[in-house]
Amino acid sequence: MIKRSNTIEPPYSLLAELTHRCPLHCPYCSNPLEMALQESELSTEEWHRVLSEAADLGVVEVHFSGGEPLLRDDLENLIRHADSLEMYTNLITSGIGLTTEKAIRLRKAGLANVQISFQAADSKLSDIIGGYKAFEKKKEAVKSVKIAEMHLSLNVVLHQMNIDHLDEIIKLAEEMGAERLELANTQYYNWALLNRERLLPNKEQIERATEIYNEAKARLEKKMEIIWVIPDYYASTPKPCMGGWGAIGLTVAPDGVALPCPTAGMIKALSFENIRYSSLKSIWYDSAAFNRFRGDEWMPEPCLSCDLRHEDGGGCRCQAYALTGDAYATDPACRWAPKHHLIEEAIQETKSKSLIPISSQLIYRKYLSDKPKALKK
Ligand code: SF4
Ligand code: FES
Repeated sequence: MIKRSNTIEPPYSLLAELTHRCPLHCPYCSNPLEMALQESELSTEEWHRVLSEAADLGVVEVHFSGGEPLLRDDLENLIRHADSLEMYTNLITSGIGLTTEKAIRLRKAGLANVQISFQAADSKLSDIIGGYKAFEKKKEAVKSVKIAEMHLSLNVVLHQMNIDHLDEIIKLAEEMGAERLELANTQYYNWALLNRERLLPNKEQIERATEIYNEAKARLEKKMEIIWVIPDYYASTPKPCMGGWGAIGLTVAPDGVALPCPTAGMIKALSFENIRYSSLKSIWYDSAAFNRFRGDEWMPEPCLSCDLRHEDGGGCRCQAYALTGDAYATDPACRWAPKHHLIEEAIQETKSKSLIPISSQLIYRKYLSDKPKALKK
């Protein structure tokens, strides 16, 4: 249930995006198209302040993310600081650079959970999708997490190129001893929206995958938690994105910009404050951008008179903006949205196209002039 604006609760979680640098080039990356430069990244001292202010504000869990957070030399230091503030710590990583020695050091610093992304269940497809020879390194990283006795989650973004291999992906997670598997159907903003034609599965693929997920969830109930992020292009009503705008958690981008969700920076009509100049507390409670879509007063029709408005909050603001250019619009994923035809047209296009992936037609995520190196054309 989405919270009302007159009851702003403290944030529960912080997504600390330490850097946009990353060795992988995933074509569905949720990072912005224009990434924060290394020179603009927050310093160790600035991150300490963010973490301390977050703890004071009531945040109980921190997700260190990126880009690839292992590229920050001070990661261990930051984890130690978060742990000293009694916050639960999670590392969201590609796994590249996570040696056993490093994993043990991070564990000693207080790291509780590691979430490693996988692109597919085999190296050939995985390396094509990520634009980097990463698969075997990721398997080594999983072993390191196990040796260091940390909790292990896997995250797999699902799309046209890998969704038909869902049973193999689930088997891989089982074999690796993951306690949690997040099956995240692609959300189409930023890089994923650029690649939507190549990534959006068709209806039959989604139906088959949903069956496999339901069967696995029941079968593995006691062994592995499986999370299913809904394929909202095929849902009749939108997702309650982020549990509501500025309701549960916040993101701090590498350059210090504080956001109600990781992709909100794309909404150019809003001005987001930077923790270099404002406290986290004033940003959370008082900033215009965080208050903009709290509650339901801002909603247009049909949301304003819809019984579901406190369930989904009118859908995702980033998706509304990305597809219509208007962040106030009803999320087009909703069947009642005036611009729902935008979703229907995208689905229609998948029916007339081949599902065979052609890697050269993917637009790979790029950090500045960075190019995918491992791809063989
Ligand atoms: Fe949600 Fe608005 Fe659609 Fe109702 S009309 S289901 S509130 S997006
Ligand atoms: Fe930003 Fe949904 S991703 S509100």
